[in-house]
Amino acid sequence: MSHKPGIKLRDSFGSKFGVVAAAAGSAVGLGNIWKFPYITGVYGGAAFLFVYLGFILAIGLPIMLSELLIGRRSGRNAFGAFKKLAPKSAWKYIGLLGIAAAFMILSFYGVVAGWSIQYIILSIQDGFATKSPEQLNSLFTMLIESPQKPVYLQLIFMVLTGAIVIVGVKKGIEKFTKILMPILVFILLALCVKAITLPGAERGLEFLFKPDFSKLTSEGILSALGHAFFSLSLGMGTLITYGSYINRENNLLRTAVQVTAADTIIAILSGIAIFPAVFAFGIEPSSGPGLVFITLPNVFQQMPGGYIFSILFFLLLTVAALTSSISILEVVVAYFKEEFRLKRKPATIVATILISTLGIFCSLSMGVLEPYKLFGLNFFDLMDWISANMLLPLGGLFIALFVGWFLGAKKVYHEILKGGSVKRGLLYIFIFLLRFIAPIAIAIVFMDGIGLISL
Ligand code: PHE
Repeated sequence: MSHKPGIKLRDSFGSKFGVVAAAAGSAVGLGNIWKFPYITGVYGGAAFLFVYLGFILAIGLPIMLSELLIGRRSGRNAFGAFKKLAPKSAWKYIGLLGIAAAFMILSFYGVVAGWSIQYIILSIQDGFATKSPEQLNSLFTMLIESPQKPVYLQLIFMVLTGAIVIVGVKKGIEKFTKILMPILVFILLALCVKAITLPGAERGLEFLFKPDFSKLTSEGILSALGHAFFSLSLGMGTLITYGSYINRENNLLRTAVQVTAADTIIAILSGIAIFPAVFAFGIEPSSGPGLVFITLPNVFQQMPGGYIFSILFFLLLTVAALTSSISILEVVVAYFKEEFRLKRKPATIVATILISTLGIFCSLSMGVLEPYKLFGLNFFDLMDWISANMLLPLGGLFIALFVGWFLGAKKVYHEILKGGSVKRGLLYIFIFLLRFIAPIAIAIVFMDGIGLISL
Protein backbone atom coordinates (compact mmCIF):
# COMPACT_ATOMS: atom_id res chain seq x y z
CA MET A 1 0.00 0.00 0.00
CA SER A 2 1.51 3.29 -0.97
CA HIS A 3 0.88 6.27 1.24
CA LYS A 4 0.48 9.48 -0.66
CA PRO A 5 0.65 12.46 1.61
CA GLY A 6 -2.83 13.64 2.33
CA ILE A 7 -5.06 14.29 5.27
CA LYS A 8 -7.31 11.24 4.86
CA LEU A 9 -4.52 8.72 4.84
CA ARG A 10 -2.97 9.99 8.03
CA ASP A 11 -3.58 8.31 11.30
CA SER A 12 -5.64 10.16 13.86
CA PHE A 13 -6.75 9.84 17.44
CA GLY A 14 -10.09 8.16 17.99
CA SER A 15 -11.71 9.97 20.87
CA LYS A 16 -11.43 13.11 22.94
CA PHE A 17 -10.18 11.22 25.92
CA GLY A 18 -7.72 9.47 23.66
CA VAL A 19 -6.16 12.80 22.72
CA VAL A 20 -5.68 13.81 26.32
CA ALA A 21 -4.47 10.36 27.25
CA ALA A 22 -1.89 10.27 24.48
CA ALA A 23 -0.61 13.78 25.16
CA ALA A 24 -0.59 13.19 28.90
CA GLY A 25 1.11 9.86 28.26
CA SER A 26 3.83 11.77 26.47
CA ALA A 27 4.14 14.38 29.19
CA VAL A 28 4.05 12.07 32.18
CA GLY A 29 7.13 9.93 32.31
CA LEU A 30 10.59 9.68 33.76
CA GLY A 31 10.65 13.47 33.76
CA ASN A 32 8.06 13.56 36.53
CA ILE A 33 9.09 10.62 38.62
CA TRP A 34 12.84 10.34 38.09
CA LYS A 35 14.13 13.73 36.93
CA PHE A 36 11.87 16.17 38.77
CA PRO A 37 12.69 14.92 42.30
CA TYR A 38 16.36 14.54 41.51
CA ILE A 39 16.88 18.05 40.14
CA THR A 40 14.62 19.57 42.80
CA GLY A 41 16.97 17.94 45.30
CA VAL A 42 20.06 19.22 43.52
CA TYR A 43 18.81 22.81 43.21
CA GLY A 44 17.59 23.21 46.76
CA GLY A 45 13.95 22.16 47.03
CA ALA A 46 10.92 24.43 47.38
CA ALA A 47 12.40 27.57 45.77
CA PHE A 48 13.18 25.52 42.67
CA LEU A 49 9.68 24.02 42.72
CA PHE A 50 8.02 27.45 42.82
CA VAL A 51 10.10 28.81 39.96
CA TYR A 52 9.29 25.67 38.01
CA LEU A 53 5.55 26.11 38.64
CA GLY A 54 5.76 29.74 37.51
CA PHE A 55 7.38 28.66 34.24
CA ILE A 56 4.77 25.95 33.71
CA LEU A 57 1.93 28.46 33.94
CA ALA A 58 3.39 31.47 32.17
CA ILE A 59 5.44 29.70 29.50
CA GLY A 60 4.65 25.99 29.37
CA LEU A 61 0.91 26.20 29.05
CA PRO A 62 0.82 28.81 26.24
CA ILE A 63 3.53 26.97 24.33
CA MET A 64 1.69 23.69 24.70
CA LEU A 65 -1.39 25.25 23.16
CA SER A 66 0.80 26.74 20.42
CA GLU A 67 2.31 23.38 19.51
CA LEU A 68 -1.07 21.68 19.40
CA LEU A 69 -2.47 24.36 17.16
CA ILE A 70 0.51 24.38 14.80
CA GLY A 71 0.12 20.62 14.52
CA ARG A 72 -3.58 20.58 13.87
CA ARG A 73 -3.53 23.51 11.50
CA SER A 74 -0.76 22.05 9.36
CA GLY A 75 -1.47 18.34 9.73
CA ARG A 76 2.25 17.72 9.37
CA ASN A 77 5.34 16.60 11.27
CA ALA A 78 7.49 18.99 13.33
CA PHE A 79 9.52 20.09 10.30
CA GLY A 80 6.82 19.90 7.63
CA ALA A 81 4.41 21.91 9.78
CA PHE A 82 6.56 25.03 9.54
CA LYS A 83 7.19 24.42 5.84
CA LYS A 84 3.46 24.31 5.25
CA LEU A 85 2.46 27.27 7.44
CA ALA A 86 5.43 29.44 6.47
CA PRO A 87 6.50 28.33 2.99
CA LYS A 88 9.96 29.28 1.76
CA SER A 89 11.08 30.70 5.06
CA ALA A 90 13.65 29.76 7.66
CA TRP A 91 11.03 28.80 10.27
CA LYS A 92 11.31 25.16 9.26
CA TYR A 93 14.71 24.96 10.95
CA ILE A 94 12.90 25.09 14.29
CA GLY A 95 11.65 21.67 13.28
CA LEU A 96 15.18 20.44 12.69
CA LEU A 97 16.23 21.68 16.10
CA GLY A 98 13.41 19.56 17.46
CA ILE A 99 14.50 16.47 15.57
CA ALA A 100 18.00 16.90 17.01
CA ALA A 101 16.54 17.26 20.50
CA ALA A 102 14.52 14.09 19.99
CA PHE A 103 17.68 12.12 19.19
CA MET A 104 19.48 13.41 22.25
CA ILE A 105 16.62 13.02 24.70
CA LEU A 106 15.69 9.52 23.68
CA SER A 107 19.34 8.42 23.85
CA PHE A 108 19.57 8.94 27.62
CA TYR A 109 15.87 8.38 28.28
CA GLY A 110 16.18 4.79 27.09
CA VAL A 111 19.05 4.23 29.49
CA VAL A 112 17.06 5.37 32.52
CA ALA A 113 14.10 3.30 31.36
CA GLY A 114 16.52 0.37 31.20
CA TRP A 115 17.41 0.93 34.87
CA SER A 116 13.72 0.87 35.62
CA ILE A 117 13.39 -2.51 33.89
CA GLN A 118 16.25 -3.80 36.03
CA TYR A 119 14.35 -2.61 39.10
CA ILE A 120 11.28 -4.58 38.04
CA ILE A 121 13.48 -7.67 37.95
CA LEU A 122 15.05 -6.85 41.31
CA SER A 123 11.62 -6.29 42.81
CA ILE A 124 10.41 -9.65 41.61
CA GLN A 125 13.50 -11.30 43.11
CA ASP A 126 12.81 -9.47 46.38
CA GLY A 127 16.25 -7.96 45.93
CA PHE A 128 15.77 -4.98 48.24
CA ALA A 129 14.81 -6.98 51.31
CA THR A 130 16.99 -6.51 54.39
CA LYS A 131 19.27 -4.05 52.58
CA SER A 132 20.39 -0.89 54.37
CA PRO A 133 20.17 2.51 52.69
CA GLU A 134 23.92 2.31 51.98
CA GLN A 135 23.57 -1.11 50.41
CA LEU A 136 20.70 0.09 48.24
CA ASN A 137 22.90 2.95 47.16
CA SER A 138 25.72 0.71 46.04
CA LEU A 139 23.26 -1.64 44.37
CA PHE A 140 22.22 1.24 42.12
CA THR A 141 25.74 2.47 41.46
CA MET A 142 26.95 -0.98 40.54
CA LEU A 143 24.10 -1.44 38.11
CA ILE A 144 24.55 1.79 36.20
CA GLU A 145 28.34 1.49 36.03
CA SER A 146 28.33 -2.01 34.67
CA PRO A 147 29.29 -2.15 30.98
CA GLN A 148 26.77 -4.75 29.85
CA LYS A 149 23.48 -5.08 31.64
CA PRO A 150 22.24 -1.49 31.34
CA VAL A 151 23.21 -1.50 27.68
CA TYR A 152 21.12 -4.61 27.00
CA LEU A 153 18.22 -3.24 28.99
CA GLN A 154 18.33 0.04 27.11
CA LEU A 155 18.26 -1.88 23.83
CA ILE A 156 15.28 -3.94 25.01
CA PHE A 157 13.44 -0.76 25.89
CA MET A 158 14.24 0.81 22.53
CA VAL A 159 13.01 -2.28 20.68
CA LEU A 160 9.74 -2.06 22.63
CA THR A 161 9.45 1.63 21.76
CA GLY A 162 10.11 0.94 18.10
CA ALA A 163 7.61 -1.93 18.04
CA ILE A 164 4.79 0.25 19.34
CA VAL A 165 5.60 3.08 16.95
CA ILE A 166 5.53 0.64 14.02
CA VAL A 167 1.99 -0.36 14.94
CA GLY A 168 1.02 3.28 14.59
CA VAL A 169 -0.45 6.12 16.48
CA LYS A 170 -3.97 5.05 17.17
CA LYS A 171 -3.60 1.37 17.85
CA GLY A 172 -0.21 1.58 19.47
CA ILE A 173 -0.34 4.76 21.43
CA GLU A 174 -3.85 5.58 22.42
CA LYS A 175 -5.08 2.29 23.86
CA PHE A 176 -2.00 1.78 25.89
CA THR A 177 -2.09 5.07 27.77
CA LYS A 178 -5.76 5.10 28.56
CA ILE A 179 -5.66 2.13 30.87
CA LEU A 180 -2.36 2.47 32.61
CA MET A 181 -2.14 6.11 33.62
CA PRO A 182 -4.86 5.89 36.30
CA ILE A 183 -3.15 2.91 37.92
CA LEU A 184 0.07 4.86 38.13
CA VAL A 185 -1.67 7.68 39.98
CA PHE A 186 -3.11 5.19 42.44
CA ILE A 187 0.29 3.71 43.27
CA LEU A 188 1.80 7.14 43.67
CA LEU A 189 -0.95 8.10 46.10
CA ALA A 190 -0.32 5.00 48.18
CA LEU A 191 3.39 5.83 48.25
CA CYS A 192 2.64 9.39 49.35
CA VAL A 193 0.55 8.15 52.25
CA LYS A 194 3.31 5.83 53.38
CA ALA A 195 6.01 8.48 52.94
CA ILE A 196 4.31 11.19 54.95
CA THR A 197 3.70 8.84 57.85
CA LEU A 198 7.38 7.90 58.15
CA PRO A 199 9.16 9.28 61.22
CA GLY A 200 10.86 12.53 60.29
CA ALA A 201 8.69 13.10 57.25
CA GLU A 202 8.08 16.78 58.07
CA ARG A 203 11.60 17.72 57.10
CA GLY A 204 11.02 16.35 53.64
CA LEU A 205 7.78 18.24 53.22
CA GLU A 206 9.48 21.40 54.39
CA PHE A 207 12.27 20.88 51.93
CA LEU A 208 9.74 20.51 49.13
CA PHE A 209 7.27 23.26 50.07
CA LYS A 210 8.96 25.88 52.26
CA PRO A 211 11.01 28.01 49.91
CA ASP A 212 14.35 29.55 50.70
CA PHE A 213 14.90 31.75 47.68
CA SER A 214 18.47 32.48 48.66
CA LYS A 215 19.26 28.96 47.50
CA LEU A 216 18.37 29.77 43.88
CA THR A 217 21.17 29.96 41.37
CA SER A 218 21.18 31.00 37.70
CA GLU A 219 21.83 27.41 36.79
CA GLY A 220 18.92 26.29 38.95
CA ILE A 221 16.57 28.75 37.26
CA LEU A 222 17.65 27.64 33.79
CA SER A 223 17.18 24.02 34.85
CA ALA A 224 13.67 24.83 36.12
CA LEU A 225 12.87 26.34 32.73
CA GLY A 226 14.46 23.45 30.85
CA HIS A 227 12.57 21.00 32.99
CA ALA A 228 9.25 22.75 32.41
CA PHE A 229 9.80 22.09 28.70
CA PHE A 230 11.10 18.58 29.22
CA SER A 231 8.31 17.54 31.51
CA LEU A 232 5.53 18.92 29.33
CA SER A 233 7.17 17.44 26.19
CA LEU A 234 7.55 20.90 24.67
CA GLY A 235 9.99 22.73 22.46
CA MET A 236 10.81 19.96 20.01
CA GLY A 237 7.61 19.33 18.15
CA THR A 238 6.23 16.34 20.05
CA LEU A 239 2.92 18.07 20.51
CA ILE A 240 3.06 19.47 16.98
CA THR A 241 3.29 15.89 15.78
CA TYR A 242 0.51 14.69 18.11
CA GLY A 243 -1.51 17.82 17.32
CA SER A 244 -1.44 16.80 13.68
CA TYR A 245 -3.41 13.68 14.62
CA ILE A 246 -6.10 15.67 16.45
CA ASN A 247 -9.37 16.34 14.68
CA ARG A 248 -11.10 19.68 14.41
CA GLU A 249 -13.69 19.11 17.12
CA ASN A 250 -11.12 18.99 19.85
CA ASN A 251 -10.97 21.93 22.24
CA LEU A 252 -7.23 22.52 22.20
CA LEU A 253 -7.20 24.89 25.14
CA ARG A 254 -8.98 22.40 27.32
CA THR A 255 -6.63 19.64 26.20
CA ALA A 256 -3.60 21.79 27.01
CA VAL A 257 -4.92 22.68 30.46
CA GLN A 258 -5.75 19.07 31.29
CA VAL A 259 -2.41 17.74 30.17
CA THR A 260 -0.49 20.45 32.01
CA ALA A 261 -2.48 19.83 35.18
CA ALA A 262 -2.00 16.06 35.04
CA ASP A 263 1.72 16.42 34.45
CA THR A 264 2.22 18.89 37.26
CA ILE A 265 0.14 16.95 39.76
CA ILE A 266 2.10 13.79 39.08
CA ALA A 267 5.42 15.59 39.51
CA ILE A 268 4.32 17.01 42.85
CA LEU A 269 2.98 13.64 44.00
CA SER A 270 6.35 12.12 43.16
CA GLY A 271 8.01 14.79 45.25
CA ILE A 272 5.69 14.04 48.16
CA ALA A 273 6.40 10.33 47.83
CA ILE A 274 10.14 10.85 47.74
CA PHE A 275 11.38 13.74 49.91
CA PRO A 276 9.92 12.68 53.24
CA ALA A 277 11.54 9.30 52.67
CA VAL A 278 14.82 10.90 51.64
CA PHE A 279 15.03 12.61 55.02
CA ALA A 280 13.62 9.69 56.98
CA PHE A 281 16.31 7.37 55.65
CA GLY A 282 19.16 9.86 55.85
CA ILE A 283 19.70 10.04 52.08
CA GLU A 284 21.30 13.19 50.62
CA PRO A 285 18.55 15.13 48.72
CA SER A 286 21.15 16.24 46.20
CA SER A 287 22.40 12.74 45.45
CA GLY A 288 21.56 12.99 41.77
CA PRO A 289 20.10 10.63 39.17
CA GLY A 290 19.90 7.73 41.62
CA LEU A 291 17.58 9.51 44.04
CA VAL A 292 14.34 7.68 43.17
CA PHE A 293 16.01 4.33 42.66
CA ILE A 294 17.73 4.51 46.03
CA THR A 295 14.97 6.11 48.08
CA LEU A 296 11.87 4.19 47.11
CA PRO A 297 13.20 0.67 47.72
CA ASN A 298 13.72 1.78 51.34
CA VAL A 299 10.07 2.77 51.50
CA PHE A 300 8.86 -0.47 49.89
CA GLN A 301 10.74 -2.46 52.50
CA GLN A 302 8.71 -0.86 55.26
CA MET A 303 5.33 -0.92 53.59
CA PRO A 304 2.73 -3.61 54.08
CA GLY A 305 2.46 -5.22 50.66
CA GLY A 306 5.71 -3.52 49.69
CA TYR A 307 6.77 -6.49 47.59
CA ILE A 308 3.80 -6.15 45.25
CA PHE A 309 3.90 -2.37 45.33
CA SER A 310 7.52 -2.25 44.22
CA ILE A 311 6.91 -4.60 41.30
CA LEU A 312 3.91 -2.58 40.22
CA PHE A 313 5.65 0.74 40.69
CA PHE A 314 8.65 -0.06 38.54
CA LEU A 315 6.45 -1.75 35.98
CA LEU A 316 4.32 1.37 35.69
CA LEU A 317 7.35 3.63 35.70
CA THR A 318 8.62 1.67 32.73
CA VAL A 319 5.24 1.93 31.03
CA ALA A 320 5.09 5.68 31.72
CA ALA A 321 8.55 5.92 30.18
CA LEU A 322 7.31 3.95 27.19
CA THR A 323 4.32 6.22 26.52
CA SER A 324 6.79 9.12 26.52
CA SER A 325 9.52 7.47 24.50
CA ILE A 326 7.08 6.54 21.73
CA SER A 327 6.11 10.20 21.46
CA ILE A 328 9.77 11.18 21.10
CA LEU A 329 10.44 8.52 18.49
CA GLU A 330 7.24 9.50 16.68
CA VAL A 331 8.69 12.98 16.11
CA VAL A 332 11.57 11.48 14.17
CA VAL A 333 9.48 8.83 12.43
CA ALA A 334 6.81 11.29 11.25
CA TYR A 335 9.63 13.47 9.91
CA PHE A 336 11.34 10.60 8.07
CA LYS A 337 8.02 9.39 6.75
CA GLU A 338 6.70 12.63 5.40
CA GLU A 339 9.87 14.39 4.35
CA PHE A 340 11.74 11.42 2.90
CA ARG A 341 8.68 9.47 1.79
CA LEU A 342 9.66 6.42 3.80
CA LYS A 343 7.10 3.92 5.01
CA ARG A 344 6.41 3.79 8.73
CA LYS A 345 8.29 0.55 9.30
CA PRO A 346 11.65 1.37 7.72
CA ALA A 347 11.47 4.89 9.10
CA THR A 348 11.02 3.51 12.60
CA ILE A 349 13.74 0.92 12.25
CA VAL A 350 16.31 3.44 11.01
CA ALA A 351 15.45 5.95 13.74
CA THR A 352 15.52 3.31 16.47
CA ILE A 353 18.92 2.00 15.41
CA LEU A 354 20.48 5.47 15.25
CA ILE A 355 19.12 6.55 18.62
CA SER A 356 19.96 3.27 20.37
CA THR A 357 23.55 3.64 19.21
CA LEU A 358 23.80 7.03 20.87
CA GLY A 359 22.14 5.44 23.88
CA ILE A 360 24.92 2.87 24.20
CA PHE A 361 27.39 5.71 24.67
CA CYS A 362 25.11 7.33 27.24
CA SER A 363 24.97 4.14 29.21
CA LEU A 364 28.70 3.49 29.03
CA SER A 365 29.43 7.06 30.09
CA MET A 366 28.13 6.15 33.55
CA GLY A 367 30.91 3.60 33.93
CA VAL A 368 33.81 2.79 31.61
CA LEU A 369 33.54 6.02 29.61
CA GLU A 370 33.03 8.22 32.68
CA PRO A 371 36.48 9.84 32.43
CA TYR A 372 35.68 11.32 29.02
CA LYS A 373 34.02 14.64 29.64
CA LEU A 374 33.07 17.79 27.80
CA PHE A 375 32.39 20.98 29.80
CA GLY A 376 32.78 18.78 32.88
CA LEU A 377 29.86 16.54 31.87
CA ASN A 378 29.90 12.93 30.82
CA PHE A 379 28.05 11.97 27.63
CA PHE A 380 24.80 11.13 29.41
CA ASP A 381 24.68 14.44 31.28
CA LEU A 382 25.77 16.31 28.17
CA MET A 383 22.88 14.91 26.12
CA ASP A 384 20.50 15.77 28.95
CA TRP A 385 21.89 19.27 29.50
CA ILE A 386 22.10 20.34 25.86
CA SER A 387 18.65 19.05 25.00
CA ALA A 388 16.71 20.14 28.07
CA ASN A 389 18.48 23.37 28.91
CA MET A 390 19.36 24.59 25.41
CA LEU A 391 17.43 23.02 22.56
CA LEU A 392 14.01 22.85 24.21
CA PRO A 393 13.97 26.44 25.54
CA LEU A 394 15.27 27.72 22.20
CA GLY A 395 12.69 25.68 20.32
CA GLY A 396 10.05 27.04 22.68
CA LEU A 397 11.22 30.60 22.14
CA PHE A 398 10.85 30.28 18.38
CA ILE A 399 7.51 28.51 18.65
CA ALA A 400 6.22 31.37 20.82
CA LEU A 401 7.44 33.93 18.30
CA PHE A 402 6.01 31.94 15.41
CA VAL A 403 2.52 31.68 16.86
CA GLY A 404 2.56 35.06 18.64
CA TRP A 405 3.89 37.18 15.80
CA PHE A 406 4.09 35.28 12.55
CA LEU A 407 0.81 33.37 12.32
CA GLY A 408 -1.21 36.34 13.43
CA ALA A 409 -3.85 36.52 16.13
CA LYS A 410 -6.76 35.95 13.75
CA LYS A 411 -5.63 32.56 12.52
CA VAL A 412 -4.60 31.59 16.00
CA TYR A 413 -7.98 32.43 17.51
CA HIS A 414 -9.73 30.71 14.67
CA GLU A 415 -7.81 27.50 15.27
CA ILE A 416 -8.43 27.56 19.01
CA LEU A 417 -12.13 28.31 18.61
CA LYS A 418 -12.76 25.39 16.27
CA GLY A 419 -13.32 23.10 19.21
CA GLY A 420 -15.78 25.27 21.13
CA SER A 421 -16.04 28.72 22.63
CA VAL A 422 -13.30 30.26 24.72
CA LYS A 423 -13.52 33.52 26.66
CA ARG A 424 -12.02 36.49 24.80
CA GLY A 425 -9.98 37.50 27.81
CA LEU A 426 -8.25 34.13 27.82
CA LEU A 427 -7.32 34.48 24.17
CA TYR A 428 -5.79 37.90 24.84
CA ILE A 429 -3.82 36.60 27.80
CA PHE A 430 -2.60 33.74 25.65
CA ILE A 431 -1.37 36.00 22.86
CA PHE A 432 0.19 38.39 25.33
CA LEU A 433 2.12 35.61 27.05
CA LEU A 434 3.30 34.31 23.69
CA ARG A 435 4.30 37.65 22.25
CA PHE A 436 6.07 39.14 25.23
CA ILE A 437 6.36 37.15 28.42
CA ALA A 438 7.52 33.79 27.09
CA PRO A 439 10.16 35.06 24.62
CA ILE A 440 11.60 37.66 26.98
CA ALA A 441 11.66 35.35 29.98
CA ILE A 442 13.22 32.50 28.02
CA ALA A 443 15.86 34.79 26.51
CA ILE A 444 16.83 36.25 29.88
CA VAL A 445 16.87 32.95 31.78
CA PHE A 446 18.80 31.29 29.00
CA MET A 447 21.48 33.97 28.71
CA ASP A 448 21.83 34.20 32.46
CA GLY A 449 22.00 30.42 32.81
CA ILE A 450 24.82 30.01 30.32
CA GLY A 451 26.65 33.03 31.71
CA LEU A 452 26.17 35.50 28.83
CA ILE A 453 24.59 37.99 31.19
CA SER A 454 24.53 38.05 34.94
CA LEU A 455 21.49 39.13 36.91
N1 PHE B 1 7.82 14.64 29.05
C1 PHE B 1 8.50 13.39 29.12
C2 PHE B 1 8.75 13.07 30.58
O1 PHE B 1 8.53 13.89 31.44
C3 PHE B 1 9.79 13.40 28.34
C4 PHE B 1 9.67 13.99 26.98
C5 PHE B 1 10.46 15.08 26.64
C6 PHE B 1 8.79 13.47 26.05
C7 PHE B 1 10.36 15.67 25.39
C8 PHE B 1 8.67 14.06 24.80
C9 PHE B 1 9.46 15.15 24.48
O2 PHE B 1 9.20 12.01 30.91
